[in-house]
Amino acid sequence: MCGIIAVLNKDNGANDITNVIIEALERLEYRGYDSSGIAYLDSINKTHRIRSVGRIEKLSNEVKSYALDKKAIVGIGHTRWATHGVVSVKNAHPHKTDGISIAHNGIIENYKELSSQFNINLESDTDSEVISQLIAKFMEDDLNFEESFKKTVSLLRGTYGIVAICEEEPNILIGAKKGSPLAIGYSVDQIYIASDAIALSSLSENVIYLQEGDIVVCKNNKYTIYDKDFKEVAREITNNIVSMKDITKCGLEDYMLKEIHEEPNVLLKTFENFENPVDIKKYKSLYLIACGTSHYAGLLAKYWIEDISGILVNVEIASEFRYRNPVLDKDSLYIFISQSGETIDTLCAMRNVIDRGFDTLSIVNVENSSIIRESKYKIRTHAGMEIGVASTKAFISQALTLLLLILEKNKIPTHKIAESMQSVIDMSDFFEDMAQKIRNSRTIIYMGRGTSYPISLEGALKMKEITYVSSEGCPAGEIKHGPIALIDTDVYAVILAPHDRYYEKTISNAQEIIARNGRILTIGSGRIQNHDSIEINNTGDIGNPFVLTTAVHMLAYYTAKSKGLDVDKPRNLAKSVTVE
Ligand code: AGP
Ligand code: GLU
Repeated sequence: MCGIIAVLNKDNGANDITNVIIEALERLEYRGYDSSGIAYLDSINKTHRIRSVGRIEKLSNEVKSYALDKKAIVGIGHTRWATHGVVSVKNAHPHKTDGISIAHNGIIENYKELSSQFNINLESDTDSEVISQLIAKFMEDDLNFEESFKKTVSLLRGTYGIVAICEEEPNILIGAKKGSPLAIGYSVDQIYIASDAIALSSLSENVIYLQEGDIVVCKNNKYTIYDKDFKEVAREITNNIVSMKDITKCGLEDYMLKEIHEEPNVLLKTFENFENPVDIKKYKSLYLIACGTSHYAGLLAKYWIEDISGILVNVEIASEFRYRNPVLDKDSLYIFISQSGETIDTLCAMRNVIDRGFDTLSIVNVENSSIIRESKYKIRTHAGMEIGVASTKAFISQALTLLLLILEKNKIPTHKIAESMQSVIDMSDFFEDMAQKIRNSRTIIYMGRGTSYPISLEGALKMKEITYVSSEGCPAGEIKHGPIALIDTDVYAVILAPHDRYYEKTISNAQEIIARNGRILTIGSGRIQNHDSIEINNTGDIGNPFVLTTAVHMLAYYTAKSKGLDVDKPRNLAKSVTVE
C-alpha cells in the first residue's frame, strides 16, 4: 500500500534532495504501487513536479533527464496504490494546488462533501487532491501554511498519512497521521517524514513513530509534534532496527526466495525469543482475528489449541468481524495477528474490541506499528523485515508463536522441524521442474485434512497472488461436495498428505481425482504411480504444517518465476493493506 517520503534540508543541508527521495521511493517499492511522483521547491521556491505511471525506475529516469534547477530545499515523494481514480499521471501524487503540494496515503471518505462545501473543482479523480485544494483555499483567507494545514486536517474524515510543502513558506515541511503509518527521521543536515523505517534505513539511525491524530511541523532545523488537540507532545525516539541485511537479497534473486530460505532460522529464532505475556488458559475462549495469510495462521492454531488445551477458538476474518455485530464476551481473549501491524481491517477490528473493554493480544512482526502499540498484550514475531509482498517467513513465526501460547517448549522438536524445512528448500530442482508442469493449469486446487487444510488455503493464496493462476484451497473431505466438478486434464490438484491420522482418507480423495483425469502433486508421504510427489520427513501434527508451508511457498515461487513474473511486487497487491 503506497509509500511516502519527504525531506527538508536543514540550514547546512545538502541541496539536491531529489536523489534522496528517489532512493527512498525505491526502498518503498515493496509496499506495492502503480504510479509515483516527486515534487520539490528549488532555490527560488518554484515547485517542480514529475509524476509517472509504472515503476520507480521510469520516474527516476524522468527526474534525471529533468534539466531544470535541482537545488531543492524541500521535497516530497509518493508511491500510489490507487483507491479513487484510475492509474494515470493526472491522478498520481503529489497533488498541487497553487503553491501547495501534498502526498497522501489512505482514503478521505468525505472528499466529495468537502469539495461541494468549499466549492472546489477537483482537477484529478482522486480523493487526495481535496487536501491541497483546502490548504490553498484557507491560505487565501489569510491563514498561514501551518494554520491552513491544521484547519484542513480537522475537516478530514477517513484515513491519512499526509506530507505537504508550500512555496510561500519553503522552509517548512508538515505531516499528519491518522490510520496510515507515518514516521520521522533525521540526520545531521536533513529531517525526514516517511511511511516506514525501511524508507529511512540509510538516512536515519532513529525513527519516531507518529501516533493517531499527530501533526508534525519541521522547521528551523527541528521537528515539533502536536497531538490531536494540537498540544505539543514528545514521541518515543526508537532505533531504526532495519538492518542492511533486512533490505538486501543476500545474493538470491528475489526477496521472496531469500525470505523462504530464512524460514528454518525464523522458526528457531521465534522459539528462542518467545516470551508469553498472558496466560490464555484463564480465558473461556479465544478469538483469532486477521486477514489473508495471517488468518490462515489463526486457522492452523485453532486445530492445535483446541486439541491441546480444550479452549474454544473462534477464527475470524477481520473485515467481516468488524462490521457484523459479533456476540462477544469479557471472558474471552481477542488475538490479532498481523505481519505489518497496519492492516486497516485488523486494526479497526481490534479498536472495536478495545472500545468494548475486552482484553486484546497482538502478534505482529513490524515493531512500533499501530496494532502492536494499541493492544493490551503484545508479542513481536522475530521474522525480521519481510519485503516480498507475498508473506512467507512471517507465517512461520506467527504459527509457532500461537503454538507456544499453549504448548511447552520441550514438546516442540524445533531443530528436527527446521531440518525438514531445509531439506524442502534444498529440493529447488524438483520445484523448478514441477513449475513447468503446473504453470499452465486452468485451476490449481490445494487440499488437505486437519492441520493440512489451513496450509492448503495458504498454498492457494501464495500461488494465486504471485502467478495469477486461479487457485483454491479446500478440505480434502469437501472435494466431492463441489470442487471435483472442476477436475479435468487442465487442472492440477496439490494434495497435502503427511503421514498423519488423515493420510489414508486423503489419498482416497486423490484417487477420486485421478479417476477423473485430474493431475496430482502429492506433498507428504507415499507416492501415487504416474503422478508427481515430494516426500517430507514426518514431524507429526506439530511439525508437518511448517514443512508443508515451506513446500507450498517454494512451489508458488518457482511457478511464478517460470512465468517470468515479478514475485516480489505482484500486480494489484500491496504489502500492507492500509485502505479498506
Ligand atoms: C499474504 O501473502 C498477502 N500479502 C496478504 O494476504 C496478507 O497476509 C494480508 O494482507 C494481511 O497482512 P498483515 O499480516 O500485514 O496484516
Ligand atoms: N486514496 C488516494 C488515491 O487513490 C491515495 C491512495 C494511496 O494510499 O496510495 O490516490
